[in-house]
Amino acid sequence: MKASDIQGLLEQAEEARKKSYSPYSRYPVGAALLSEDGTVYRGCNMENVSYPASLCAERNAIGSAITDGKRRFSAIAIIGSHEDYTMPCGICRQVMAEFHVPLIICGKSPDDYRTYTLEELFPSSFKAEELIHKENP
Ligand code: THU
Repeated sequence: MKASDIQGLLEQAEEARKKSYSPYSRYPVGAALLSEDGTVYRGCNMENVSYPASLCAERNAIGSAITDGKRRFSAIAIIGSHEDYTMPCGICRQVMAEFHVPLIICGKSPDDYRTYTLEELFPSSFKAEELIHKENP
């Protein structure tokens, strides 16, 4: 991906971050997911007084894309803290693996970011092939 495209995606993540509902952690996060057809789906974190009912920005963005019928993606950009690169949690990595999101961009700002492949962040993942065509006990 070109640097200018990465920055554009991070800007969208920054916009999504402004919508975060995070009264408990006070840690707003925004994500922008690029579909292969060029559409961008935004997500922010959405917390709940019953903490496990909370949802991360990345899964919110992926859910919007899936709801819109998209299944193929090019990248996801994430911005949380402006002081550090926000890395996706384990559950979000699992969901990114399900939909083969190949490139993960973790930004402090649109100009300051790191990029990772899915394989780097989530190696040796549990694969669908392990479930299918196996005899049940
Ligand atoms: N969070 C995200 O939305 N994405 C991440 O990549 C890391 C963590 C959220 C979950 C929770 O609302 C808050 O950040 C603090 O953990």
